[in-house]
Parts: sequence; C-alpha cells; structure tokens
Amino acid sequence: MAKLMINRNKKEGTIAPEIYGHFSEHLGRCIYEGLYVGENSEIPNVNGMRTDVVEALKEIKIPVLRWPGGCFADEYHWKDGIGPKENRKKMVNTHWGGVVEDNSFGTHEFFELCRQLGCKTYINGNLGSGTVQEMSEWVEYMTFNGVSPMADLRKKNGHEEPWTIDYFGVGNENWGCGGNMRPQYYADEYRRYQTYVRNYDPQKPIQKICGGANVDDYDWTRKVLETTHDHTVPEFHGFMDGLSLHYYVHPEGWEIKGSATDFDEEVWYKTLKKALYMETLVERHGKIMDQYDPDKKIGMIVDEWGCWFTVEPGTNPGFLYQQNTIRDALVAGITLNIFNKHCDRVKMANLAQMVNVLQSVILTEGPKMIKTPTYHVFHMYRHHQGATLLNSTLTGVGETGIGEWKVPEVTESVSEDAEHIITVTLNNLSADEEKEIEIAFAGDEHVYSVKEAKVVSAEMHAHNTFDVPELVKEEEFTAYKKCGNGIKVMLPPCSVVELRLQ
Ligand code: AHR
Repeated sequence: MAKLMINRNKKEGTIAPEIYGHFSEHLGRCIYEGLYVGENSEIPNVNGMRTDVVEALKEIKIPVLRWPGGCFADEYHWKDGIGPKENRKKMVNTHWGGVVEDNSFGTHEFFELCRQLGCKTYINGNLGSGTVQEMSEWVEYMTFNGVSPMADLRKKNGHEEPWTIDYFGVGNENWGCGGNMRPQYYADEYRRYQTYVRNYDPQKPIQKICGGANVDDYDWTRKVLETTHDHTVPEFHGFMDGLSLHYYVHPEGWEIKGSATDFDEEVWYKTLKKALYMETLVERHGKIMDQYDPDKKIGMIVDEWGCWFTVEPGTNPGFLYQQNTIRDALVAGITLNIFNKHCDRVKMANLAQMVNVLQSVILTEGPKMIKTPTYHVFHMYRHHQGATLLNSTLTGVGETGIGEWKVPEVTESVSEDAEHIITVTLNNLSADEEKEIEIAFAGDEHVYSVKEAKVVSAEMHAHNTFDVPELVKEEEFTAYKKCGNGIKVMLPPCSVVELRLQ
C-alpha cells in the first residue's frame, strides 16, 4: 500500500509566494490582446487592461510579474515606452515575429497592471544592448522620490509618486539572445551594471537578479559565482539577491518540440520525465550555489519554466501560441511540488508565459477568454503560497511509463498555513491507472478531516477551447475516506489533486 507520511514536527522552511510567479513578455499576443487592449477597446477594460483576464488572474493570487522580457528585454529601450502614446517610437520586435511594437504598453502601463493584480513587480533591465546609464536612469525614473531629471520626467508624464521595484533583473539569457557572452564577461558586466541599480528608498531595497544558466550549464553557474564572488566584500550577497535558471520542457527536443495536443502515451511519459528533470537541475545548480553561499542568502530564481511545444497550426511561428492539456496540468503540478520541496533555495519562479504564449494560464481570442488546465493547478496550489513546508515522504510508490520513459507513479508536497490547515498536493502521473494512497501523520494523535478537496483530471489530451471552454476544470474530489487518524485517497489517472486537512 502506498503511503504518504507527513511529519508536522519537521518544518522545512517557508514556501515563498513568489514561487507561484508569472512572466509576461512583449511576445505574440501576451501583452497586446492578452493583457492590454487599450482604453478605447470594445473589450471591457480598466485603463486598458482586460477586465476578464485581470479578474481571472486575481483568483489565482499572482504574487509577482516579470516584464518586459525575455529576449525582448535586452533590446528594450524604456524611454520609447513613456510619454504621450502618439509620440512613442515604433520599433521592430526582432525576436518575436518581426512585428511592429508601438510601445503603447510601457513602464506606466506595467505598474498599472501590477496595481490591478495586486502583485509585486519584477523588471528585467537591458544589459545586452543598453548602457549602464540607461539602466540606472530607468531605476531613477521608477523609484526616486525627489528632484532629479528622471523623477521630474516621471512626474511630467503623470505619475507624481515613485513606484516600487521589488525585483530587478540585470540582463536576460546573456549567454544567448542577451549578447552571446561568456560567463566571466557577463559576470564582470553584471558587477558593473548592478552597481548603478540604486536603492533610492532604503525601506524598499530592490532585489537584484543576476542572469543564470540555461538548463544544465553548470559551468555558467560556477563561473558567474566565482567572478561575482568577492572575498573583500563580506556581504557577498549584496551583489545579488537572486541567480536565475531557465528550463523548458520540449518533449521532442529543441528542433522539433512536438505538438501541444497530438501525442501518444510514450510522449506523455517522456514529457513528464523531462518535467521531473527540474529537480536534478535545482539540486545540482543548488550545490554549486552552496559553495559560494552556504547560508542560502541568494535565491534561485527559476524565472522561465514550462512546456514549449510546436506552435498551433496556422499561427505565427514567432508568436509561440500553444494549446494546454491535462499534460500541462501535470507538468505544472510536478514542477510546483519540486519548487515547494526546495523552498530553502528556490525563492521565485515565473511560468512562461502568463497569457497566449507557451504554457499559459489563460488563452484569449478576441473578446473570449478561457482558463487552461494549468490555470486550475495554480488555483489549487495557491494555498501553498507563504505556507510552511512540512516534511513528507512517499513509500510503496513504484514507477510507471513506457521504455526508457519511466516516472514515479505519484509526486507530492505538503504545507501548513497560518491557520494550521494542511495542504497536500498530489499528482498521479499514470496515463491509465488510478492509485490508492494512504495519508498518515507521524507521531501525531490528532484525527484529521478533509476541509476541502479538489481535482483536475481528464483523458490526457483533454483541453479547453473557445467552443468548449470548461471541459477541464477544477472539480470536487470525493474519492477519499477516513483511515486511522488520516485519510485514504484514490487518485484518478492523469490527475492533480489538492486536499486541505485540519
Ligand atoms: O519565453 C520565451 C523566450 O524563451 C524568452 O524570451 C527567452 O528568455 C527564452 O529563451
């Protein structure tokens, strides 16, 4: 009998709410159409932001939003996106489809979106093609509360008060689209640029994020830390508060990727196996970070993750628009469980991307909007945000899969919130078999009952469309019964389950 043993006496850290963060880039229909339609649109909006999308996003408690890229960030010149819209420069979005970027969504609009969402802000600066002065002036424009050229310009543009930048990324993927740099070179540039990311308000220090590795490029992590590490600076982490990591799941590899909706059982397992690889990456990059930062003051910031499939047939290949099935829900459930379990090091993660791009939580078509299976996972898992990770161990769980694509039957994570409600999230990775699990508590006499139980589950290809928008959704989960002082559950195949116990 498979058993999940929970030990409430072993508390393993706080799950940073920012692990449930998101990413929005000027790419395809993420910003334009997806989030921002402009004040004059017939689609209901508040200050240009789509009301339907903002309302849906608020329900999943967005903790933080990263913007403006991605690769776009290292070609973005912020001054093009401020001031009267009719005067804003039009530019070509070289990375994403070569379309015209009219800069109608810029700094003021980003902060307005975050205000509506009630989330923290993560701005990604341009190190690849911008200057130190440009980056430093942007920070001054956004955060300085006094008399200065940039603060005056912000006021002239209608925003008297400074905003708060919670996180600032100093470049993006500088090993690739952000300048094709070598690690030592980037690290030296990082040291220089970050110097001028000034904390104008000591009460609200900006968390600086250094550009980290792609997938398993451990050499990048090592060399960047080696170069930024300075024994003469006792507070080493003062140079950086976070180091990023990017990892996407492409079932058939970077060249082919694979369809979002048309796949067989072998590819189902292959995809999930690749999602599980996140754990190896977090652990191995984490070990290198431990050498330089044993006290774990630097957060691992997985600021791009998710499934990256072949674009939907007939759509612009540069727009990265893809559907989202139960398979994506499992990838999300598995990955978020991994992040929870490594909350001692992982301090933020940003799903790529929020709307209409890659593994989105929302898709739009004109005035229509649908919530994807991934949305529902984020909705269930929101209870982990800010909760305490509890020690939990699975026993009696075997493997499932096809050929070399073997995966554990179940993954899990468990947390306890301030009201002492215990959230258990379980994934059944099997494409066709249900799985019974006993949930038990170590050294604990309390008799637990289920306060709330939800499930997202369907046939592995199931997804929502604009014609059938609610085929996959969060539903009541009833397949449980009391067992000792715990609970016994029957997980359906292809499922993500959330139990709230008290
Ligand atoms: O999310 C799409 C792209 O993937 C980002 O712009 C880039 O940083 C990464 O390669």
